[in-house]
Amino acid sequence: MKRIGVLTSGGDAPGMNAAIRAVVRKGIYHELEVAGVYSGYQGLIEGKIEKLEAGDVGDIIQRGGTKLYSARCPEFKTSEGREKAVRNLKEHGIEGLVVIGGDGSYRGAMELTKLGIPCIGVPGTIDNDIPGTDYTLGFDTALNTVIEAIDKIRDTATSHERTFVVEVMGRDAGDLALWAGLAGGAESILIPEEPYQLDDMIARLEKGKKRGKKHSIIIVAEGVTDGNTLAREIADKAGVETRVSVLGHIQRGGSPTARDRVLGSLFGARAVEVLMAGGKGRAIGMRNHQVVDYDMTQAFTESHETDMSLYTLSKELSI
Ligand code: F6P
Repeated sequence: MKRIGVLTSGGDAPGMNAAIRAVVRKGIYHELEVAGVYSGYQGLIEGKIEKLEAGDVGDIIQRGGTKLYSARCPEFKTSEGREKAVRNLKEHGIEGLVVIGGDGSYRGAMELTKLGIPCIGVPGTIDNDIPGTDYTLGFDTALNTVIEAIDKIRDTATSHERTFVVEVMGRDAGDLALWAGLAGGAESILIPEEPYQLDDMIARLEKGKKRGKKHSIIIVAEGVTDGNTLAREIADKAGVETRVSVLGHIQRGGSPTARDRVLGSLFGARAVEVLMAGGKGRAIGMRNHQVVDYDMTQAFTESHETDMSLYTLSKELSI
């Protein structure tokens, strides 16, 4: 293998740049040429491919977003789109590709692998929803962003003795909401993995108020319902007026935490090692504090397991 490529696809996540840097430098360290594909699968179809030198990935480890840009690409779901992509990869002499993204990006990578381009997946998404890995790149940074927001909301919530609903991202997974709720001391956490009962939530709010709580914070994962709908339900049922904060894309940006930089470096480097060893259709992950590689299809045929012990604990602690 002489030349490999790297791309980022789907929603960007802090730590992707650390992974790009690791792929490029680990490749060059092992005397490979490394090409960057710009704008994900869209750029692959359009041939936006450039050779990257060690210096091209300098000064990016601390930056959020992705130096290679990202996109969601419907054209890549067609066989014509994928054939164009393969043609471009072959024209550029790219013999293996590292795809940094979420499960949708992995599906694309598997298709390319079937068409003869060995691909390795690196889990990059703030949602922490990829089966086979305990953590995804960007989750820790997004979590810290949410915590910072909750801490600020708490100040104003206390001052006015108010109830706040905070809506967080996570697509169909509740990890971001759950971890943020536990770390932020939220009174209630609503996640898709656990059906919510409005009566129970309202009873908890009232109990807290009686014992002298000055504020209540309810974290709702976007996969359950939107914050404004929930606020209306609470007002209709309990007559409690709330304020709503939808954190939105703020959660995707910002300088990656040390943890995401280290994860990105470990994942990117391992991806290159696996490619060099002849691996194809493999995904990189972290399990029980060990970097692992596994069959990429597992990432979209199995379901992600949220750590529900955290949910139980949060209920015990938010009395
Ligand atoms: O997958 C990452 C994510 O930020 C999800 O949490 C969210 O549902 C989605 O992407 C938003 O996507 P877009 O940026 O395309 O609106």
